[in-house]
Amino acid sequence: MTTTLTESCKAAYLEDLKTLLSIPSVSTDPERKSEVRQCAQEVARQMREAGLQNVEIMETPGHPVVYAYYIVDPKKTTALVYGHYDVQPEDPIELWTTPPFEPTIRDGKIFARGATDDKGQFLCHIKAVATILESEGTLPINLKFVIEGEEEIGSPNLAPFLEQHKEKLKSDVLVVSDSAMYAPGQPSLVYGLRGLAYLQIDLTGADSDLHSGVFGGAVPNPALELCKILSQLKDQDEKVTVPGFYDKVEDMSVEERKAYAELEFDPDEFRQSVGVNELTPERGYTALEGRTARPTLEVNGLLSGYTGEGAKTVLPAQAMAKVSCRLVPKQDPAEISQLLEDYIRTLCPASMKCKVTQMHGGHPWITPPDHPKLEAAAKAVRTVFHREPVRIREGGSIPIVTDFQEILGLPGILLGFGLNDENLHAPNEHFRIENFYRGIELSQELFRALAE
Ligand code: BES
Ligand code: MN
Ligand code: MN
Repeated sequence: MTTTLTESCKAAYLEDLKTLLSIPSVSTDPERKSEVRQCAQEVARQMREAGLQNVEIMETPGHPVVYAYYIVDPKKTTALVYGHYDVQPEDPIELWTTPPFEPTIRDGKIFARGATDDKGQFLCHIKAVATILESEGTLPINLKFVIEGEEEIGSPNLAPFLEQHKEKLKSDVLVVSDSAMYAPGQPSLVYGLRGLAYLQIDLTGADSDLHSGVFGGAVPNPALELCKILSQLKDQDEKVTVPGFYDKVEDMSVEERKAYAELEFDPDEFRQSVGVNELTPERGYTALEGRTARPTLEVNGLLSGYTGEGAKTVLPAQAMAKVSCRLVPKQDPAEISQLLEDYIRTLCPASMKCKVTQMHGGHPWITPPDHPKLEAAAKAVRTVFHREPVRIREGGSIPIVTDFQEILGLPGILLGFGLNDENLHAPNEHFRIENFYRGIELSQELFRALAE
């Protein structure tokens, strides 16, 4: 049975991807609410065109979910494909070579916001359905699709949606393509994702900005005080200093560390690929472990004082930082957020008014790397790529995967078609067109392998 796509199919599918990518479905931007909905409608249109039996746009208190199914035989395996049609904001727009919502092809890559995260990836599954139905008239398994519009804002309405539609969504396995391949030509099966705890810190000193000569030396500086706080959140060994932070963290097992050590990974090549002088993983861990299997803390943004051209002698009244932690299994986002908030408050000097806001978080996820359901995916990878998939955890977060596991009891297969160098969340996001087609083939083989 061949899964290779014809040239005319490829061209038509690429056109459909372009159509999706031209819709600015930025979920965080209230001004784009109607574009987000328009994107849901386009996803639904392409699902109907693919031949899915039932396609619905389902309302939530926020952006809608696109739901679809194709039931061949209730006795057969049912896979639920999850993806997200919402995207991150496009800023800074001036750093894009071509406009973010005018999909453009260069060097075999399609450039647009959402190309790899996640429109190009989930579309592979819809086009796989189209291809199989076109050639065989039926599917090897039952399929359900849940493509949401709020992943990039923390999926605030999806867990309740799963609760509410438990019966409707009943399935045997979850399939998600929203992660990366290990390297070009080398797919990976992701068996772990990190969670997230996100905070904003606002420090206020004086009632207003002041002349730094007239007032400096007597009035405290929030920018400096904020930096002092931030500098104490991690130590020399790159360990997070928040008391209790590591209490629930489980050590990587000897076997897992051994498996990691056997992966082909050149730290210096990785270092050069990101252009940094030196890598700084947590002491005692490799860069690969630090990036995927260890918890960490980052400052995501900082704002204070004068940041324009030239010099301005000002003593700012306020300083703000966004700080987040990536979490590993057993760490609870709410608990870590609270520990972090409490610690920041103890570090904050009496001279400052301190406001800490807990923002969205997400649970980490893990499944045994030898879970039987992953075998079907491994088989599909062997068929299409003629090699074994790499089994690894990923550093990013898709918090809803844990909810699918806990609410619907679904084991997860995370088989990504993207690559981490494709500028997701950054200017010039792109997706390798070759992987779009390969993803469609891989998806077909996965559905077939799940039927066995
Ligand atoms: N697809 C990404 C997560 C991802 C990226 C997983 C690469 C594995 C490899 C997802 O869209 C994402 O960006 N998630 C957010 C979390 C969310 C709560 C905003 C993240 O990881 O920052
Ligand atoms: Mn994503
Ligand atoms: Mn994302």
